[in-house]
Amino acid sequence: MTVTDDRFSRMKPYNAGFVRKIDSRDLPPGPRWPALLQSIALLRFRHQFIPALHKRYGDTFTIRTVPKAAPLVLFSRPEHAKEIFAGDPEIFHAGKGNAILGPIMGEHSLLLQDSSEHRRARKLLMPAFNGAALRGYESVVTQLAKDEIARWTPGVPFRSLDRMNALTLEVILRVVFGVTDERRLTELRPLVNRTVDISPVVLLGWGYPFLQRFGPWKKTVENQRALDKVMYAEIAERRRAGDLHERTDVLSQLLAVGGTDQDGLSDAELRDQLVTLLLAGHETTATALSWSLYELGRHPAALREARAAARNGDAAHLEAVMKEAMRLHPVIPMVVRHLMEPATIGGRELPRGANVGPSILLSHRREESFPEPESFCPARFLEGHVAPNTWIPFGGGVRRCIGAGFSLMEGVAVLREVLLRYDVALPAGARDYPKVRNITSVPRHGARIVVRPDPGGGPG
Ligand code: HEM
Repeated sequence: MTVTDDRFSRMKPYNAGFVRKIDSRDLPPGPRWPALLQSIALLRFRHQFIPALHKRYGDTFTIRTVPKAAPLVLFSRPEHAKEIFAGDPEIFHAGKGNAILGPIMGEHSLLLQDSSEHRRARKLLMPAFNGAALRGYESVVTQLAKDEIARWTPGVPFRSLDRMNALTLEVILRVVFGVTDERRLTELRPLVNRTVDISPVVLLGWGYPFLQRFGPWKKTVENQRALDKVMYAEIAERRRAGDLHERTDVLSQLLAVGGTDQDGLSDAELRDQLVTLLLAGHETTATALSWSLYELGRHPAALREARAAARNGDAAHLEAVMKEAMRLHPVIPMVVRHLMEPATIGGRELPRGANVGPSILLSHRREESFPEPESFCPARFLEGHVAPNTWIPFGGGVRRCIGAGFSLMEGVAVLREVLLRYDVALPAGARDYPKVRNITSVPRHGARIVVRPDPGGGPG
């Protein structure tokens, strides 16, 4: 039996063990509809549902979700976000809230762990995401961005989300997995694409191993086995590579850390962390980038400033563009922690077993935090007006997104290349809105843009 067979047969139904019934009198107010309806509203219509609840119940309210009407208490004030992010990680667990991703990411995934296991994995992964490591990845990202945008056809509208997805996938394969062999890349691309495209129905049904003999579950297991086989082969080859310490990709750095630490990551752990980085880092960054291009296309003055910044090497300005696009269009709507013990947030004691979290959607639209919150204004990130715990697209505290710096580095490199080469506009009449796709929110129409060569004479 291989490691993967074992993994599939051990899956448990999602949320099986830790949901307990909680009396509504112990919780902030919220709608009284059946939990199934509230879950559907949260999953499918969050962009209407969450603001409507905010209007009706104020800054803190409770949603009931399936199974067992589990309460999810959402907060929108920065001081409450701060309390949650600073909460004791032994009490504020994050891993359990992500349990649905277990079948794909694997039990060792950083996203699924808590307590000492999380601390250990985070410590081993961190060096591959520090400033020096990020600088090492930048030239590969820049080259991949140049190759991608050189293929765009000027004057013909296209879905920037699709092109950014293709690009960020390539970045993960080359910069995170460190694969350069074209044969292996060809083998990996379809397997990875199918892994990323997994539907929530497949994830929800996964806890029932008998389903793995049928339809979409069977296909998913087969794809996962094939992906695992290639990943384990790559890990084995990389362990033997003589040039590990000169290589700048994330996998090689993780192996290098293991080399100096008896307690390094095992093959199964590496596989799980790599798939986690793939799933957490690919579409999220692509979405943020496509919204950035869309907003630049909508705002000619902001575009002019951003293009000047690209020419002048002003990375801070390009980063501000991406940050402002992520403020207006959060990729992930909220951050969730599961209370292992009663905890007090905003002066209110909440019971053990409740899920709590800041609503990123609401936090980013607060007038007090962001004057004229509906307008696209990258300058607010340059003038020091953004207070702590108001802009929280990457969550916070010990669980803050480990790839935050990576995605901003990638975003700046990609925006720079696009803006050096092209003028960006929206096709006539194009307007886009967020749409829910699994856990993330993406532009409904793919953030369509049209590019034209730089009237000033092309790159540089
Ligand atoms: C625009 C892009 C991205 C967004 C909006 C985003 C957002 C988030 C959020 C909201 C969390 C949860 C934080 C919390 O619970 O407090 C998270 C966690 C995480 N993200 Fe990202 N992310 C992005 C890019 C990336 C990239 C590029 C990578 C890796 C290459 C990555 C890897 C992870 C991992 C491993 C975690 C789990 C951290 C932990 O539990 O300790 N993310 N991300």
